[in-house]
Amino acid sequence: MTALLDAAERLGRDELERLQLERLRATLRHAYENVPFYRAAFDAAGLRPEDCRTLADLARFPFTTKADLRDNYPFGMFAVPEERVRRIHASSGTTGLPTVVGYTDRDLDIWADVVARSIRAAGGRPGHKVHVAYGYGLFTGGLGAHYGAERLGCTVIPASGGMTARQVRLIQDFRPEVIMITPSYMLTLLDEFERQGVDPRTTALKVGIFGAEPWTEEMRREIEERFAIDAVDIYGLSEVMGPGVAQECVETKDGLHIWEDHFYPEVVDPFTGEVLPEGEEGELVFTSLTKEAMPVIRYRTRDLTRLLPGTARVFRRMEKVTGRSDDLVILRGVNLFPTQIEEIVLRTPGVAPHFQLRLTRQGRLDALTVRAEARSGATTAERAAAAQSISAAVKDGIGVSVGVEIVDPESLERSVGKIKRIVDLRDAG
Ligand code: DLL
Repeated sequence: MTALLDAAERLGRDELERLQLERLRATLRHAYENVPFYRAAFDAAGLRPEDCRTLADLARFPFTTKADLRDNYPFGMFAVPEERVRRIHASSGTTGLPTVVGYTDRDLDIWADVVARSIRAAGGRPGHKVHVAYGYGLFTGGLGAHYGAERLGCTVIPASGGMTARQVRLIQDFRPEVIMITPSYMLTLLDEFERQGVDPRTTALKVGIFGAEPWTEEMRREIEERFAIDAVDIYGLSEVMGPGVAQECVETKDGLHIWEDHFYPEVVDPFTGEVLPEGEEGELVFTSLTKEAMPVIRYRTRDLTRLLPGTARVFRRMEKVTGRSDDLVILRGVNLFPTQIEEIVLRTPGVAPHFQLRLTRQGRLDALTVRAEARSGATTAERAAAAQSISAAVKDGIGVSVGVEIVDPESLERSVGKIKRIVDLRDAG
């Protein structure tokens, strides 16, 4: 087992923290000296990079937000001359300008290393074939997974997202052992297997590495059973790197080990910004420790989770992400995340694992309707029972009343990448 770990994975906790501090201090210096935004932010806080003498001192430094990245669109956050930037990625920018990120040769090298480490932790091995169904392009998923799989010594099948019938065909013909894909798109593949009359348990797949969106233990169970594979979680975000910031180990499936030799995590109170102790839930914040092209200092991810001690690795873990603060729905004072509805829908007999949340306004109050798809062949009585059961489970478990509509099989839009769970019709008139 130990033989499979790389040098950083074999460090002791003290050695790791010494390495982190050294890298953190170098990163703060690099950011201060080369990015006007950080220089101004540190100056305004009355801080110099040297003021960070311990890892805990990082808490004195200012946060960086997505808005800061947008204000410096496109290349204002880069800390190296443009000709040293070897690649650019960008977020989809569904809400305004896209956020742009850049990588030097060394950044790309480290990224491939951490993704290779992630695939290995998931159970992938040199010689395996890896089917990459994350989208290729400005999105970091496809290319990030791709170079990591190559680095590990795997054979990559760069399928990208979409053309679902062909994906199923390729999985049968090329017989990959590993698939990297969003969990929602995996469900779309499942439908397609059924449509083609192929038993999804007969592929060569052993492991699925799922990320780019929140998913639950119920979804893990559904995917593992239907495909007869191990399903593990991969986390990342473009601002910090891309996929491969944290990865769940297949032997424990107990949350994601953060590759802390490159990414320093904190969890803060989303309202006060105060650093929370290990085990408390709050907003995840990252500081890059080795990035050259675009170091990030205390970047607020808006993802909610908690930090936990390491198990299968020396690195600390983060619990599966419950959701982004952006996806939080507040209904009559009650907080609700799409993942909570996912847990309920996937436990309910008679409905397929496909659902959508529709937000509307009734007078001055917001209302939420859960639209879940009936399983094919479900009778009218079974559909009525499912609606009743979902509505009762939401009321009992979350404490709020929602509408439930059981819609026909195949009627909800299918994901080919990141799924959009919430349809906000509040301003639709
Ligand atoms: O989604 C990078 C990625 C690609 C991760 C493929 C894993 C696999 P962005 O498009 O910048 O980057 O979106 C980042 O997606 O802040 C989370 O809200 C969400 N996210 C990513 N992975 C997970 C996960 C990629 N495993 C945003 N669980 C993040 C929950 C996730 N949410």
